[in-house]
Amino acid sequence: MPVPVSVDHSPTLPEGDALVAVGVRAGHIEEDAPGASLELADLAGFDAKEAQTHFASTDAGPRLLVGLGEDPSSASWRKVGAAVAKAAVKHPWVVVDALGSLEGAERNAAAEALAEGLALGSYGFADYKEPAEGTALESVTVVAKGGKKVSESVSRGFATAVAVGHVRDLVNTPGGDLTPSAFAQQAEELASEHGLEIEVLDRSEIVAAGLGGLAGVARGSTQEPRLVKITHRPAGKAKGRIALVGKGVTFDAGGLSIKTNAGMEWMKTDMAGAAAVLGAMTLVPTFAPRLEVTAFLPLTDNMLGGDATRVGDVLRIRNGKTVEVLNTDAEGRLILSDALSLAAESEPDAIVDLATLTGACMVALGERTAGLMTNNDQLAERLLAAADVAGEALWRLPMPEHLRKPLDSTVADLRNIGTGAYGGALTAAIFLREFVDGRPWAHLDIAGPASTSTPYDEFSRGGTGYGVRTLARLLAGWSKLDS
Ligand code: BES
Ligand code: MN
Ligand code: ZN
Repeated sequence: MPVPVSVDHSPTLPEGDALVAVGVRAGHIEEDAPGASLELADLAGFDAKEAQTHFASTDAGPRLLVGLGEDPSSASWRKVGAAVAKAAVKHPWVVVDALGSLEGAERNAAAEALAEGLALGSYGFADYKEPAEGTALESVTVVAKGGKKVSESVSRGFATAVAVGHVRDLVNTPGGDLTPSAFAQQAEELASEHGLEIEVLDRSEIVAAGLGGLAGVARGSTQEPRLVKITHRPAGKAKGRIALVGKGVTFDAGGLSIKTNAGMEWMKTDMAGAAAVLGAMTLVPTFAPRLEVTAFLPLTDNMLGGDATRVGDVLRIRNGKTVEVLNTDAEGRLILSDALSLAAESEPDAIVDLATLTGACMVALGERTAGLMTNNDQLAERLLAAADVAGEALWRLPMPEHLRKPLDSTVADLRNIGTGAYGGALTAAIFLREFVDGRPWAHLDIAGPASTSTPYDEFSRGGTGYGVRTLARLLAGWSKLDS
């Protein structure tokens, strides 16, 4: 979990054994770090590039210098915060003095991103292993003028990081421990902590509700599936109604169309979409209190037990469409189709789904960028803008009509895979579109950025919590779509 980040408004730096981190603008080293011993040997290589860190002794004592680069954006402040947290791990308390040159709204936005970065950079997953020797960081203080507004910004940044931390914990937990029922239990705990309504369907209720895709994927497992529905209801009349959907495959072995061992290595992370939606839901009461937001999380693993769905089996999805399963490893779209059908039935203004859906999306966009596919240009613009401020890379991909025909089946309404070798991410989106009843809908394929094998910026190895920040921004700025 991230360490707490708070604000200190006093004009003098707190006394005590804190490590003081000082923000230094590129080209202003002597001005921003006065009295730093500037012997070449000491500052070797430090030229205040964005998120560059350097320990220096100054007249006032030891300092951690952190580069702000030139004209830092929100994304820069987040990286600066993370770099400080990572460089300062051996110190129990860090005081960050970096916002001095900013005023007003600009300062508040910077403070939020800085706090987010500080908290995210301090994240570690220690459920199964002691933290590395010498890890000592317990709290961070951000020095800032500006009173209540800046305090709120820092709290918001910290709250976001806490939500992201929960998502990372869920994603990092092994599939044998984070079973669908264990995930649902975590969702119940978070929902009650944040005053959200929650409803959980078990296997027999899932079958009774006609969720044939979810039931079909779960057939291969001794673990029961769950369908989790979480709602935030505003006090007065809602300013809008949003449905969120997240893929929650707690382990994807591929089913009878079994993956290779290497292909399974990261498949405990195949519930990252559901986790990100859950994390975003915990932020709704503070970020978007006047919206009605409902999350639909289909949870199952994809195993190959004796009664697993067979290749050629036909499943009936909640909205009545039938699907011929020609590859059991294309399971995400089977469970999402049920959840999207439920979402559409609730008559929302828009539906957004997050899913670690296709390796093809990683082939197209690499490991750090999610693919956005949508039937609504305005929703696309909003999501791209929200992702940009949030510092989560997102790129729109098309849904070309010629990829619809290959999904026709000779025995059912749809096949769950296309016939060609290319454009797998787009085919998957075109499949999902069959279940949204024509409503404004966006699909984020987060197969790449949901986890990382190497740490970078504000991310540590494993789950990244991708999507929470974009969703929180999207909802916070929500207004009715033009029709
Ligand atoms: N969960 C995988 C997609 C995935 C792959 C996520 C790698 C993260 C990293 C998904 O269920 C899957 O297996 N997709 C198949 C689809 C194919 C059978 C049409 C894929 O991408 O190969
Ligand atoms: Mn799969
Ligand atoms: Zn999967």
